[in-house]
Amino acid sequence: MINFLCILGAATLPLLTLATNKPGYRPYDPEVYTVYQFPENGSWIANIATRPNNDLVITRTDVPEVWAIKVDEGTAELVATIPDANNLIGLSAIDDDVYVVIAGNLDTATLTPEAGSFSAWKVNLDSNNDGSASLIAAIPEGQFLHGVETFQKRKNSTLVLIADAGQGAIYKLDTVSGNYSIAIKNESLAGVNNIHAQNEYLYFTATQNKIFGRVPVDLEEATATGPIEIISDDQKFVPDGFALSTNGSLAYMATFIENSVVAIDLDDEDHPKTTIQGDLNSTSIAGPTAVLYMKKGHDSTLYVTTNGGQTAPVNGEFSEPAKIVGIDL
Ligand SMILES: *[C@@H]1O[C@H](CO)[C@@H](O)[C@H](O)[C@H]1NC(C)=O
Ligand SMILES: *[C@@H]1O[C@H](CO)[C@@H](O)[C@H](O)[C@H]1NC(C)=O
Ligand SMILES: *[C@@H]1O[C@H](CO)[C@@H](O)[C@H](O)[C@H]1NC(C)=O
Ligand SMILES: *[C@@H]1O[C@H](CO)[C@@H](O)[C@H](O)[C@H]1NC(C)=O
Ligand SMILES: *[C@@H]1O[C@H](CO)[C@@H](O)[C@H](O)[C@H]1NC(C)=O
Ligand SMILES: *[C@@H]1O[C@H](CO)[C@@H](O)[C@H](O)[C@H]1NC(C)=O
Repeated sequence: MINFLCILGAATLPLLTLATNKPGYRPYDPEVYTVYQFPENGSWIANIATRPNNDLVITRTDVPEVWAIKVDEGTAELVATIPDANNLIGLSAIDDDVYVVIAGNLDTATLTPEAGSFSAWKVNLDSNNDGSASLIAAIPEGQFLHGVETFQKRKNSTLVLIADAGQGAIYKLDTVSGNYSIAIKNESLAGVNNIHAQNEYLYFTATQNKIFGRVPVDLEEATATGPIEIISDDQKFVPDGFALSTNGSLAYMATFIENSVVAIDLDDEDHPKTTIQGDLNSTSIAGPTAVLYMKKGHDSTLYVTTNGGQTAPVNGEFSEPAKIVGIDL
């Protein structure tokens, strides 16, 4: 399986030569390999986080389940099922092997949310991969809660931010007290789904509107301290889940129905894009949904999750079960 995928990856390499090589970019020579693939069509991975031992944890959207992935063994284990919800979306580590996940009800065929059904849960994993889930807060005012990002850790509280695509808003939630309120609301955030904070900015995608942007935020209150900046509103580009490189220079973007992962230069004002893997007609990462950037010594790896292309089958016909792939940069 791994060899087969390496061949597929190699077959797509000639296309990479079309990507622009801006000064400061080393040419990419990535290999894509499957870390784990679910057995059934219809499976959909929403988000991915790293565990303290460098293994992975993911949320599934087709079922309300959290799974742990052993990278070296290529195995997966169900660790927690969230009750009273049909679907999971956002995922973020709030402590050592403790995660916040966003749960709710969603029609995955039409991506239509059930407003008022969303809540935030805490999932603890132990070294035996036994998980326990407890409710942090139901957020009935939420219309379509999506991504979650751990933002501020204080002695007695950990603040997370939660994107509400329906309201075009960012909630802040104290995961200890369960108190929550809207920190930022703006028409430019309509459809906001994935969020990541770095260097006093909150980066976001609004996939329906094909927007990738950022807003400077107050590190205590999570309120906006300046205008919202649109990094890309290229309507031929579909930004979904993403990761930021540790040095803050690049965003690695999953392009969902465009079946690729693209690096966006955040330092250059023109924000040039370089394709790292895949393209519209490629089956190597069909339906990429989220990206995790992991630095290991001098090397770094991207882990990319998919929904198998179920929303828009590749070339109108190819779809497969959801998977997690690794791309060594
Ligand atoms: C933090 O929590 C501990 C234990 O619940 C409590 O004793 C302490 O007063 C709290 N400190 C603050 C600053 O709230
Ligand atoms: C949570 O909200 C309640 C009610 O508004 C308030 O009394 C309490 O002090 C808040 N707790 C924290 C930790 O902010
Ligand atoms: C939304 O953000 C834009 C850009 O930062 C700003 O010009 C506008 O005033 C904001 N709208 C509201 C309602 O805050
Ligand atoms: C930032 O990190 C990325 C990924 O490791 C690397 O490709 C890029 O060259 C770095 N940029 C700078 C300015 O160091
Ligand atoms: C890629 O797929 C699209 C949609 O199915 C099709 O219109 C296009 O011709 C394909 N391009 C190539 C190079 O195969
Ligand atoms: C998934 O669906 C595709 C497209 O219908 C089919 O070709 C493939 O065999 C299915 N795979 C599994 C594992 O059921």
